[in-house]
Amino acid sequence: TEGRLWGGRFEGGPAEAMFALSKSTQFDWRLARYDLAGSRAHARALQRAGLLTEGDLAGMLAGLDQLDADVAAGRFVAAPTDEDVHGALERGLMERVGPELGGRLRAGRSRNDQIATLIRLYLRDELRVVAGGVQSVVEALTQQARTHLGVPMPGRTHLQSAQPILLSHHLLAHAWPLLRDVERLQNLDARLAVSPYGSAALAGTSLGLDPEFVASELGFDSSVANSIDGTAARDLVAEAAFVLAMIGVDLSRMAEEVILWSTVEFGFVTLDDAWSTGSSIMPQKKNPDVAELARGKAGRLIGNLTGLLATLKGLPLAYNRDLQEDKEPIFDGLDQLRVLLPAMAGMIGTLVFHPERLASRAPAGFSLATDVADWLVRQRVPFAQAHEVAGKAVRYCEGRGIELTDLTASDLPEIDGRLTPAVLHVLTVEGSINSRDGRGGTAAARVEEQVREVSAALEAV
Ligand code: ARG
Repeated sequence: TEGRLWGGRFEGGPAEAMFALSKSTQFDWRLARYDLAGSRAHARALQRAGLLTEGDLAGMLAGLDQLDADVAAGRFVAAPTDEDVHGALERGLMERVGPELGGRLRAGRSRNDQIATLIRLYLRDELRVVAGGVQSVVEALTQQARTHLGVPMPGRTHLQSAQPILLSHHLLAHAWPLLRDVERLQNLDARLAVSPYGSAALAGTSLGLDPEFVASELGFDSSVANSIDGTAARDLVAEAAFVLAMIGVDLSRMAEEVILWSTVEFGFVTLDDAWSTGSSIMPQKKNPDVAELARGKAGRLIGNLTGLLATLKGLPLAYNRDLQEDKEPIFDGLDQLRVLLPAMAGMIGTLVFHPERLASRAPAGFSLATDVADWLVRQRVPFAQAHEVAGKAVRYCEGRGIELTDLTASDLPEIDGRLTPAVLHVLTVEGSINSRDGRGGTAAARVEEQVREVSAALEAV
């Protein structure tokens, strides 16, 4: 039967609904060129084991190259009768080199070790593309941080005013997790660089094929130590799905802030026209759809991860057909990030910030209260008492409808005798920000240092 790699012990072909359920070419076709790379390496291993002559190998490789060119050009595609990418390509090879030679390729390998190898090859390539996309977002954040050095804004905890910070500091707080995601992708690549080829169905091959040779032909660092693990494990696919989900979540948190900041109530940023959308009914609208789609896709990426983990849970060793269900979630995750990452980089890179508005909100909500307490501590007041006094100052201001920055020397004795006019010098946004000058703090000099650190980290990846 065309495109089906089994049949000898069966009286007839599969039922139509059986075939429809089993068929995977509609999604595994994207692995075709990796399958062909695997076949070339496997053919060489067969020749080294004495199972193909030099002439056979040359004929086989010529056929595979021709098939590869036809696949790349779209001249060869899966037929409706092909069960999966592996069967389709074997059919294609037979059509090109004849059944006698084409029929020799499958010796010593199984679709189980094939698919486990192909998914690793594919992920190694694709995750590099993802890392590049994440780096572009980090670059956009870093560029904005560099452009807006020195712009203060309100820092928040619980979404309430907390302490003044620098906008650049806040933007870079989104860059670091993304840099860790890039690092995660690179670490994962080292684990993906181990080839399952030669594991065959589960127990390894008996034909004297050399898995280490095939591994190095395919650019892997080594081959698996355990053929059962090689064919049954999908933890690396799940790990990839986790990193994609983590990237989605990191983008989503940033997106949520862009959505808030672009409201008229916040007024911190304006979205560039090219990276926002209008409303079909409300003429004034400029909507943050990139950010909302980032938030939405994070849910989808999390779903792909949890779905895959649920598929793996409870599977006995070794290969089970359930494992075919690993493809669509990971493919989907990669497809989503492929469109999302460039859009996020574009949106972030073109955000127009409003420095005066950001600065004017920085001291709001008594965000300098900690500075009052810290000033008292420097005057040797125990922090517990300093906290009380600063709290009284807040209550005093709240009662009069003023901010801490509005206090004058004559207000101070009414609040507490320990507050002298010298405290008024620390009651400025700039003073507050620049006092936080330990490593990692929001002081201007530290943030400039941090911009350099992020840039160096970007260079290093
Ligand atoms: N399509 C399968 C998968 O994605 C690979 C083929 C193994 N199939 C089999 N019946 N042993 O996992």
